Amino acid sequence: MADLDAVKETKEYYLDIPQKSEAFYLKGSNALGWGMQNRLARIFNPKTGRTVMLAFDHGYFQGATTGLERIDVNIMPLAPYADTLMLTRGILRSVVPPSMTKAIVMRASGGTSMLKELSNEEIAVDIEDSIRMNVAAMAVQVFIGGEHEKQSIINMTKLVDQGTRYGIPTLAVTAVGKEMVRDARYFRLATRICAELGAHYVKTYYVEKDFETVTASCPVPIVIAGGKKLPELDALKMACNAIQQGAAGVDMGRNIFQSDAPVSMIQAVRAVVHDNESPEKAFELYETLKAEG
Ligand code: 5RP
Repeated sequence: MADLDAVKETKEYYLDIPQKSEAFYLKGSNALGWGMQNRLARIFNPKTGRTVMLAFDHGYFQGATTGLERIDVNIMPLAPYADTLMLTRGILRSVVPPSMTKAIVMRASGGTSMLKELSNEEIAVDIEDSIRMNVAAMAVQVFIGGEHEKQSIINMTKLVDQGTRYGIPTLAVTAVGKEMVRDARYFRLATRICAELGAHYVKTYYVEKDFETVTASCPVPIVIAGGKKLPELDALKMACNAIQQGAAGVDMGRNIFQSDAPVSMIQAVRAVVHDNESPEKAFELYETLKAEG
């Protein structure tokens, strides 16, 4: 029990200092609730407004992808350099130590393999399990123009509704069918549909021409996937161009974990995303770290 005799009467109310009321720093996210904003702040570094997401959820439809055969051996050493890990709940439970406090973006759609029509997905995780695993966001594939376009959009809207109940954001991942043209026109359409229907942020691919029109016309943050493995300097140039043209970060997988030196590469990617380093300087950093082993 507090000692009542010692209660001080003098109080300081700082009457000349108005209480701060700050706008949230992420594009299109100002009207979200506290829990949503807090989770987004665990994904997007509040100092830079950007993120380096390390994506290694590829196994959910293609099994043991090159570089992901042993996530405990190959991927966990990269975790300290990522802002966020994007993965499936199976890998989270079986491989990632719960003492690791990085933001988790959990793959929440699935149900098909690379042997079948990929757009035929469903929501594959209960919202309760996302809550139990303390995720920062849930990710769902959206196949605009795909065979099961409507089903995949409804998967997304359902996930947005479920997540909204508990303050968990949804990342819409735009998936492009093999037969479709990957250009700014397609990505303007796909990203805008995802945002209009409630996605809190959207993942897309970088395109050389007019990418800034994709980021400008999407009212929520965009992160880019890395796509197939490129030479390291080219991957760094792509990340740099995307950032300069309005992306809020990368959600990169193969260009990091299939690199000759993944721990060096993720640090070089960080330099581009968070420190505005040029691709050439970041590549020098990559080479130096690689040489140091
Ligand atoms: C799989 C995904 C991957 O997370 C995404 O493609 C990022 O990985 P990469 O940089 O290797 O393309 O969404 O469907």
